[in-house]
Amino acid sequence: MRRGRHLVCRSRLRSRSAVTVSKGRDDAARAEAQPAGGTPAGHAVAIESFLAELAAFREAASESLGRVADAAGLEQARVEFLGARSGRLKAIQKLLSGLAAGDRPAGGRHFNDAKAAVTAFFADVQERLVGGGAAAGAAAADAIDVTLPGEPVRLGHVHPITQTIRRVQEIMARLGFESVDGPEVEDQWHNFEALAIPAEHPARDPLDNFYLAVARGADPLLLRSQTSTVQIRVMENRRPPLRIVSLGRVYRPDTADATHYPMFHQVEGLLIEPGTTMAHLKSVLRQLASSFLGGDVHVRFRPSFFPFTEPSVEFDMEWGGRWIEMGGAGMVDPAVLAAVGYDPDEVSGFAFGLGVERIAARRYGVADIRDFYRNDVRFLRQF
Ligand code: FA5
Repeated sequence: MRRGRHLVCRSRLRSRSAVTVSKGRDDAARAEAQPAGGTPAGHAVAIESFLAELAAFREAASESLGRVADAAGLEQARVEFLGARSGRLKAIQKLLSGLAAGDRPAGGRHFNDAKAAVTAFFADVQERLVGGGAAAGAAAADAIDVTLPGEPVRLGHVHPITQTIRRVQEIMARLGFESVDGPEVEDQWHNFEALAIPAEHPARDPLDNFYLAVARGADPLLLRSQTSTVQIRVMENRRPPLRIVSLGRVYRPDTADATHYPMFHQVEGLLIEPGTTMAHLKSVLRQLASSFLGGDVHVRFRPSFFPFTEPSVEFDMEWGGRWIEMGGAGMVDPAVLAAVGYDPDEVSGFAFGLGVERIAARRYGVADIRDFYRNDVRFLRQF
Protein backbone atom coordinates (compact mmCIF):
# COMPACT_ATOMS: atom_id res chain seq x y z
CA MET A 1 0.00 0.00 0.00
CA ARG A 2 2.74 2.42 1.05
CA ARG A 3 4.81 1.54 -1.90
CA GLY A 4 1.90 2.04 -4.25
CA ARG A 5 1.23 5.49 -2.88
CA HIS A 6 4.88 6.36 -3.22
CA LEU A 7 4.83 5.40 -6.83
CA VAL A 8 1.70 7.33 -7.57
CA CYS A 9 3.34 10.33 -6.02
CA ARG A 10 6.38 10.05 -8.20
CA SER A 11 4.43 9.55 -11.35
CA ARG A 12 2.34 12.62 -10.56
CA LEU A 13 5.46 14.64 -9.99
CA ARG A 14 6.85 13.55 -13.30
CA SER A 15 3.79 14.58 -15.12
CA ARG A 16 3.85 18.08 -13.63
CA SER A 17 7.44 19.16 -13.79
CA ALA A 18 10.67 18.74 -15.53
CA VAL A 19 12.45 17.27 -12.56
CA THR A 20 14.01 13.89 -13.09
CA VAL A 21 13.33 11.40 -10.43
CA SER A 22 13.75 8.08 -12.13
CA LYS A 23 16.99 6.38 -11.58
CA GLY A 24 18.03 6.64 -15.23
CA ARG A 25 17.12 10.23 -15.66
CA ASP A 26 18.74 11.12 -12.35
CA ASP A 27 21.91 9.73 -13.60
CA ALA A 28 21.68 11.79 -16.74
CA ALA A 29 20.93 14.90 -14.79
CA ARG A 30 23.76 14.27 -12.42
CA ALA A 31 26.10 13.79 -15.27
CA GLU A 32 24.88 16.98 -16.92
CA ALA A 33 24.80 19.17 -13.79
CA GLN A 34 27.93 17.92 -12.14
CA PRO A 35 30.35 16.73 -14.69
CA ALA A 36 33.21 16.67 -12.22
CA GLY A 37 33.07 15.90 -8.54
CA GLY A 38 29.25 16.25 -8.68
CA THR A 39 26.56 14.19 -7.06
CA PRO A 40 28.06 11.19 -5.48
CA ALA A 41 26.99 7.85 -6.76
CA GLY A 42 23.80 6.59 -5.08
CA HIS A 43 22.15 9.96 -4.84
CA ALA A 44 19.25 10.14 -7.23
CA VAL A 45 18.41 13.86 -7.27
CA ALA A 46 20.70 16.60 -8.44
CA ILE A 47 20.47 19.87 -6.52
CA GLU A 48 19.92 21.79 -9.75
CA SER A 49 16.92 19.66 -10.62
CA PHE A 50 15.62 20.04 -7.11
CA LEU A 51 15.91 23.83 -7.26
CA ALA A 52 14.31 23.91 -10.70
CA GLU A 53 11.47 21.84 -9.27
CA LEU A 54 11.05 24.29 -6.40
CA ALA A 55 11.07 27.26 -8.79
CA ALA A 56 8.46 25.63 -10.99
CA PHE A 57 6.38 24.88 -7.90
CA ARG A 58 6.51 28.50 -6.75
CA GLU A 59 5.61 29.83 -10.16
CA ALA A 60 2.71 27.44 -10.68
CA ALA A 61 1.36 28.00 -7.16
CA SER A 62 1.61 31.73 -7.49
CA GLU A 63 -0.13 31.73 -10.84
CA SER A 64 -2.85 29.39 -9.66
CA LEU A 65 -3.50 31.22 -6.34
CA GLY A 66 -3.53 34.52 -8.19
CA ARG A 67 -6.46 33.28 -10.25
CA VAL A 68 -8.48 31.97 -7.30
CA ALA A 69 -11.84 33.74 -7.12
CA ASP A 70 -13.74 31.92 -4.41
CA ALA A 71 -13.42 29.60 -1.41
CA ALA A 72 -13.85 26.46 -3.52
CA GLY A 73 -11.04 27.51 -5.87
CA LEU A 74 -8.83 28.30 -2.89
CA GLU A 75 -9.40 24.87 -1.38
CA GLN A 76 -8.60 23.23 -4.70
CA ALA A 77 -5.34 25.16 -4.92
CA ARG A 78 -4.47 24.27 -1.34
CA VAL A 79 -4.93 20.57 -1.96
CA GLU A 80 -2.94 20.71 -5.18
CA PHE A 81 0.04 22.69 -3.89
CA LEU A 82 0.14 22.38 -0.12
CA GLY A 83 -1.91 19.22 0.52
CA ALA A 84 -0.28 17.17 3.27
CA ARG A 85 -0.86 13.84 1.55
CA SER A 86 -0.44 14.33 -2.13
CA GLY A 87 0.25 18.01 -2.68
CA ARG A 88 3.09 19.07 -4.96
CA LEU A 89 5.08 20.46 -2.06
CA LYS A 90 4.89 17.13 -0.30
CA ALA A 91 6.23 15.42 -3.40
CA ILE A 92 9.14 17.84 -3.57
CA GLN A 93 9.88 17.28 0.11
CA LYS A 94 10.35 13.62 -0.62
CA LEU A 95 13.03 14.50 -3.14
CA LEU A 96 15.11 16.06 -0.37
CA SER A 97 16.29 12.69 0.77
CA GLY A 98 17.54 12.00 -2.76
CA LEU A 99 19.97 14.92 -2.62
CA ALA A 100 23.60 14.37 -1.91
CA ALA A 101 24.36 14.81 1.80
CA GLY A 102 26.33 17.99 1.08
CA ASP A 103 23.44 19.49 -0.90
CA ARG A 104 20.76 18.72 1.63
CA PRO A 105 21.22 21.75 3.91
CA ALA A 106 20.96 24.15 0.96
CA GLY A 107 18.11 22.13 -0.52
CA GLY A 108 16.30 22.22 2.83
CA ARG A 109 16.67 26.00 3.07
CA HIS A 110 15.35 26.51 -0.44
CA PHE A 111 12.55 24.10 0.26
CA ASN A 112 11.57 25.98 3.42
CA ASP A 113 11.74 29.32 1.61
CA ALA A 114 9.46 28.08 -1.13
CA LYS A 115 7.06 26.55 1.35
CA ALA A 116 6.92 29.77 3.40
CA ALA A 117 6.40 31.92 0.31
CA VAL A 118 3.56 29.83 -1.07
CA THR A 119 1.94 29.42 2.37
CA ALA A 120 2.06 33.20 2.90
CA PHE A 121 0.58 33.84 -0.51
CA PHE A 122 -2.15 31.31 0.25
CA ALA A 123 -2.91 33.14 3.54
CA ASP A 124 -3.10 36.47 1.69
CA VAL A 125 -5.57 35.11 -0.81
CA GLN A 126 -7.57 33.49 1.96
CA GLU A 127 -7.76 36.75 3.90
CA ARG A 128 -8.81 38.62 0.80
CA LEU A 129 -11.61 36.14 0.14
CA VAL A 130 -12.76 35.75 3.75
CA GLY A 131 -12.43 39.47 4.52
CA GLY A 132 -14.31 40.34 1.37
CA GLY A 133 -16.90 37.73 2.25
CA ALA A 134 -17.34 39.16 5.76
CA ALA A 135 -17.65 42.67 4.38
CA ALA A 136 -20.15 41.48 1.84
CA GLY A 137 -22.08 39.69 4.59
CA ALA A 138 -22.14 42.81 6.74
CA ALA A 139 -23.23 44.91 3.79
CA ALA A 140 -26.02 42.43 3.08
CA ALA A 141 -27.14 42.57 6.72
CA ASP A 142 -27.19 46.37 6.58
CA ALA A 143 -28.88 46.55 3.25
CA ILE A 144 -32.32 48.13 3.13
CA ASP A 145 -35.04 46.03 1.62
CA VAL A 146 -36.95 48.68 -0.27
CA THR A 147 -39.85 46.31 -0.82
CA LEU A 148 -40.69 46.16 2.91
CA PRO A 149 -43.17 48.69 4.34
CA GLY A 150 -41.26 51.56 5.98
CA GLU A 151 -41.22 52.27 9.69
CA PRO A 152 -42.95 55.59 10.36
CA VAL A 153 -40.62 58.26 11.70
CA ARG A 154 -42.09 59.69 14.87
CA LEU A 155 -41.48 63.40 15.04
CA GLY A 156 -41.62 65.06 18.41
CA HIS A 157 -43.02 68.53 18.68
CA VAL A 158 -42.99 71.59 20.84
CA HIS A 159 -44.93 71.42 24.13
CA PRO A 160 -48.21 73.38 24.02
CA ILE A 161 -47.01 75.71 26.79
CA THR A 162 -43.86 76.52 24.82
CA GLN A 163 -45.97 76.97 21.68
CA THR A 164 -48.15 79.43 23.63
CA ILE A 165 -45.11 81.31 24.92
CA ARG A 166 -43.68 81.67 21.41
CA ARG A 167 -46.99 82.79 19.95
CA VAL A 168 -47.49 85.42 22.67
CA GLN A 169 -43.94 86.67 22.06
CA GLU A 170 -44.70 87.00 18.33
CA ILE A 171 -47.91 88.91 18.90
CA MET A 172 -46.31 91.24 21.42
CA ALA A 173 -43.33 91.79 19.12
CA ARG A 174 -45.73 93.08 16.48
CA LEU A 175 -46.95 95.61 19.07
CA GLY A 176 -43.35 96.71 19.64
CA PHE A 177 -42.64 94.74 22.85
CA GLU A 178 -39.14 93.28 23.15
CA SER A 179 -38.80 89.85 24.84
CA VAL A 180 -36.47 89.80 27.84
CA ASP A 181 -35.58 87.16 30.44
CA GLY A 182 -35.16 87.38 34.20
CA PRO A 183 -33.76 84.97 36.83
CA GLU A 184 -36.00 82.35 38.44
CA VAL A 185 -33.98 82.57 41.67
CA GLU A 186 -34.62 86.01 43.08
CA ASP A 187 -33.81 88.20 46.05
CA GLN A 188 -36.48 89.73 48.27
CA TRP A 189 -35.96 93.21 46.85
CA HIS A 190 -37.03 92.27 43.31
CA ASN A 191 -39.72 89.77 44.31
CA PHE A 192 -41.32 91.94 47.01
CA GLU A 193 -39.90 95.22 48.27
CA ALA A 194 -39.35 97.03 44.95
CA LEU A 195 -42.93 96.02 44.11
CA ALA A 196 -44.16 97.79 47.26
CA ILE A 197 -44.66 94.53 49.17
CA PRO A 198 -42.67 95.07 52.42
CA ALA A 199 -42.03 92.30 54.95
CA GLU A 200 -45.25 92.79 56.93
CA HIS A 201 -47.55 93.38 53.94
CA PRO A 202 -50.47 90.88 53.78
CA ALA A 203 -49.99 90.48 49.99
CA ARG A 204 -46.65 88.83 50.76
CA ASP A 205 -48.04 85.97 52.76
CA PRO A 206 -49.36 83.68 49.99
CA LEU A 207 -46.18 84.14 47.93
CA ASP A 208 -43.47 84.12 50.60
CA ASN A 209 -42.49 80.50 50.40
CA PHE A 210 -39.80 78.79 48.36
CA TYR A 211 -36.58 80.00 49.99
CA LEU A 212 -33.30 78.38 49.05
CA ALA A 213 -31.51 76.53 51.85
CA VAL A 214 -28.16 77.68 50.46
CA ALA A 215 -28.93 81.35 51.09
CA ARG A 216 -29.94 81.76 54.74
CA GLY A 217 -28.08 85.01 55.26
CA ALA A 218 -29.35 88.52 55.63
CA ASP A 219 -30.57 88.62 52.05
CA PRO A 220 -32.17 85.23 51.38
CA LEU A 221 -32.93 83.97 47.89
CA LEU A 222 -36.19 82.40 46.79
CA LEU A 223 -37.88 81.00 43.70
CA ARG A 224 -39.72 83.96 42.21
CA SER A 225 -43.48 83.96 42.75
CA GLN A 226 -44.27 86.35 39.88
CA THR A 227 -42.62 87.70 36.73
CA SER A 228 -43.22 91.28 37.94
CA THR A 229 -39.61 90.97 39.20
CA VAL A 230 -38.49 91.53 35.59
CA GLN A 231 -40.27 94.90 35.44
CA ILE A 232 -38.00 96.08 38.24
CA ARG A 233 -34.82 94.61 36.79
CA VAL A 234 -35.47 96.25 33.41
CA MET A 235 -36.38 99.65 34.88
CA GLU A 236 -33.27 99.57 37.10
CA ASN A 237 -31.10 99.20 34.02
CA ARG A 238 -32.82 101.20 31.31
CA ARG A 239 -34.44 104.57 30.77
CA PRO A 240 -37.90 105.13 29.21
CA PRO A 241 -39.41 104.69 26.73
CA LEU A 242 -39.77 100.96 27.41
CA ARG A 243 -41.85 98.20 25.91
CA ILE A 244 -40.87 94.77 27.18
CA VAL A 245 -42.51 91.40 27.60
CA SER A 246 -41.09 88.57 29.73
CA LEU A 247 -42.33 84.97 29.84
CA GLY A 248 -41.10 82.39 32.31
CA ARG A 249 -41.68 80.06 35.24
CA VAL A 250 -42.91 81.14 38.66
CA TYR A 251 -43.47 79.12 41.85
CA ARG A 252 -46.17 79.30 44.53
CA PRO A 253 -47.34 77.07 47.38
CA ASP A 254 -50.68 76.50 45.63
CA THR A 255 -52.46 73.16 45.72
CA ALA A 256 -52.80 71.77 42.22
CA ASP A 257 -56.31 71.84 40.77
CA ALA A 258 -57.90 72.46 37.38
CA THR A 259 -56.69 76.12 37.29
CA HIS A 260 -53.69 76.05 39.66
CA TYR A 261 -50.28 74.40 39.68
CA PRO A 262 -47.34 75.02 42.07
CA MET A 263 -45.10 75.80 39.09
CA PHE A 264 -46.63 77.76 36.25
CA HIS A 265 -45.71 80.41 33.69
CA GLN A 266 -46.55 84.06 33.49
CA VAL A 267 -46.33 86.63 30.73
CA GLU A 268 -45.34 90.01 32.07
CA GLY A 269 -45.81 93.16 30.01
CA LEU A 270 -44.46 96.62 30.79
CA LEU A 271 -44.84 99.84 28.84
CA ILE A 272 -43.40 103.15 30.07
CA GLU A 273 -43.98 106.08 27.77
CA PRO A 274 -45.15 109.65 28.25
CA GLY A 275 -48.93 110.02 28.17
CA THR A 276 -49.76 106.32 28.79
CA THR A 277 -53.30 105.68 30.08
CA MET A 278 -55.54 102.75 31.07
CA ALA A 279 -57.00 102.94 27.55
CA HIS A 280 -53.61 101.85 26.15
CA LEU A 281 -53.46 98.98 28.64
CA LYS A 282 -56.93 97.76 27.72
CA SER A 283 -56.24 98.04 23.97
CA VAL A 284 -53.03 96.02 24.23
CA LEU A 285 -54.67 93.24 26.28
CA ARG A 286 -57.68 93.08 23.96
CA GLN A 287 -55.35 92.92 20.97
CA LEU A 288 -53.31 90.12 22.57
CA ALA A 289 -56.48 88.15 23.41
CA SER A 290 -58.06 88.47 19.98
CA SER A 291 -54.79 87.75 18.10
CA PHE A 292 -54.18 84.59 20.12
CA LEU A 293 -57.71 83.32 20.61
CA GLY A 294 -59.71 84.81 17.76
CA GLY A 295 -61.74 87.96 17.30
CA ASP A 296 -64.82 86.59 19.05
CA VAL A 297 -63.20 86.23 22.48
CA HIS A 298 -64.95 88.21 25.23
CA VAL A 299 -62.79 89.94 27.83
CA ARG A 300 -63.57 92.11 30.80
CA PHE A 301 -61.68 94.26 33.32
CA ARG A 302 -62.60 94.19 37.02
CA PRO A 303 -61.34 96.61 39.63
CA SER A 304 -58.76 94.94 41.84
CA PHE A 305 -55.70 95.61 43.97
CA PHE A 306 -51.98 95.06 43.52
CA PRO A 307 -49.46 96.88 45.72
CA PHE A 308 -47.40 97.98 42.70
CA THR A 309 -50.15 99.27 40.34
CA GLU A 310 -52.68 102.04 40.83
CA PRO A 311 -55.37 101.73 39.62
CA SER A 312 -55.35 97.91 39.32
CA VAL A 313 -57.60 95.51 37.44
CA GLU A 314 -58.17 91.81 36.93
CA PHE A 315 -58.34 90.71 33.31
CA ASP A 316 -60.92 87.94 32.66
CA MET A 317 -61.94 85.97 29.58
CA GLU A 318 -65.23 84.33 28.90
CA TRP A 319 -65.11 80.56 28.43
CA GLY A 320 -68.12 78.29 28.14
CA GLY A 321 -70.49 80.79 29.69
CA ARG A 322 -68.12 81.49 32.64
CA TRP A 323 -65.49 84.13 33.31
CA ILE A 324 -61.94 82.88 33.93
CA GLU A 325 -59.34 85.16 35.52
CA MET A 326 -56.35 85.42 33.19
CA GLY A 327 -54.22 87.92 35.07
CA GLY A 328 -53.72 91.21 36.84
CA ALA A 329 -52.81 94.60 35.43
CA GLY A 330 -52.76 98.31 36.16
CA MET A 331 -50.89 101.59 35.87
CA VAL A 332 -47.42 101.35 37.42
CA ASP A 333 -47.59 102.87 40.90
CA PRO A 334 -45.58 106.15 41.20
CA ALA A 335 -43.86 104.68 44.30
CA VAL A 336 -42.47 101.86 42.14
CA LEU A 337 -41.24 104.33 39.51
CA ALA A 338 -39.51 106.35 42.23
CA ALA A 339 -37.94 103.20 43.73
CA VAL A 340 -36.12 102.50 40.46
CA GLY A 341 -35.02 106.13 40.04
CA TYR A 342 -37.65 107.35 37.54
CA ASP A 343 -39.43 110.66 38.08
CA PRO A 344 -43.17 109.83 38.45
CA ASP A 345 -44.03 113.36 37.37
CA GLU A 346 -42.30 112.78 34.03
CA VAL A 347 -43.14 109.18 33.10
CA SER A 348 -46.05 106.83 33.49
CA GLY A 349 -46.84 103.39 32.23
CA PHE A 350 -48.81 100.18 32.57
CA ALA A 351 -47.97 96.61 33.47
CA PHE A 352 -49.77 93.30 33.30
CA GLY A 353 -49.11 89.71 34.32
CA LEU A 354 -51.13 86.81 32.87
CA GLY A 355 -51.11 83.06 33.52
CA VAL A 356 -49.76 81.23 30.45
CA GLU A 357 -51.36 77.87 31.39
CA ARG A 358 -54.78 79.48 31.59
CA ILE A 359 -54.38 81.21 28.23
CA ALA A 360 -53.21 77.90 26.70
CA ALA A 361 -56.11 76.02 28.30
CA ARG A 362 -58.57 78.52 26.84
CA ARG A 363 -56.95 78.35 23.42
CA TYR A 364 -56.79 74.53 23.21
CA GLY A 365 -59.99 73.77 25.13
CA VAL A 366 -58.14 71.98 27.95
CA ALA A 367 -60.36 71.85 31.03
CA ASP A 368 -57.59 71.00 33.53
CA ILE A 369 -54.15 72.65 33.39
CA ARG A 370 -52.62 69.67 35.24
CA ASP A 371 -52.90 67.78 31.94
CA PHE A 372 -50.07 69.93 30.56
CA TYR A 373 -47.68 68.39 33.08
CA ARG A 374 -48.77 64.76 33.27
CA ASN A 375 -46.33 63.94 30.45
CA ASP A 376 -48.88 61.74 28.75
CA VAL A 377 -47.78 61.72 25.12
CA ARG A 378 -51.28 60.73 23.99
CA PHE A 379 -52.46 64.08 25.36
CA LEU A 380 -49.46 66.13 24.23
CA ARG A 381 -49.47 64.69 20.73
CA GLN A 382 -52.72 66.52 19.99
CA PHE A 383 -51.21 70.01 19.89
C1 FA5 B 1 -49.71 88.52 39.79
O1 FA5 B 1 -48.92 87.60 39.84
C2 FA5 B 1 -49.24 89.88 39.41
N1 FA5 B 1 -47.82 89.92 39.37
C3 FA5 B 1 -49.83 90.29 38.08
C4 FA5 B 1 -49.64 91.75 37.77
C5 FA5 B 1 -48.59 92.10 36.95
C6 FA5 B 1 -50.50 92.70 38.27
C7 FA5 B 1 -48.40 93.42 36.64
C8 FA5 B 1 -50.30 94.05 37.96
C9 FA5 B 1 -49.26 94.39 37.15
P1 FA5 B 1 -51.81 87.08 40.31
O2 FA5 B 1 -51.29 86.55 41.59
O3 FA5 B 1 -53.24 87.37 40.25
O4 FA5 B 1 -50.95 88.33 39.83
O5 FA5 B 1 -51.43 86.06 39.16
C10 FA5 B 1 -51.61 86.38 37.81
C11 FA5 B 1 -52.18 85.23 37.03
O6 FA5 B 1 -51.35 84.10 37.17
C12 FA5 B 1 -53.52 84.70 37.53
O7 FA5 B 1 -54.58 85.52 37.08
C13 FA5 B 1 -53.59 83.34 36.93
O8 FA5 B 1 -53.92 83.41 35.56
C14 FA5 B 1 -52.16 82.94 37.05
N2 FA5 B 1 -51.96 82.10 38.23
C15 FA5 B 1 -51.83 82.49 39.50
N3 FA5 B 1 -51.62 81.43 40.31
C16 FA5 B 1 -51.59 80.36 39.53
C17 FA5 B 1 -51.37 78.96 39.75
N4 FA5 B 1 -51.09 78.46 40.94
N5 FA5 B 1 -51.40 78.12 38.70
C18 FA5 B 1 -51.63 78.59 37.46
N6 FA5 B 1 -51.83 79.89 37.17
C19 FA5 B 1 -51.81 80.78 38.19
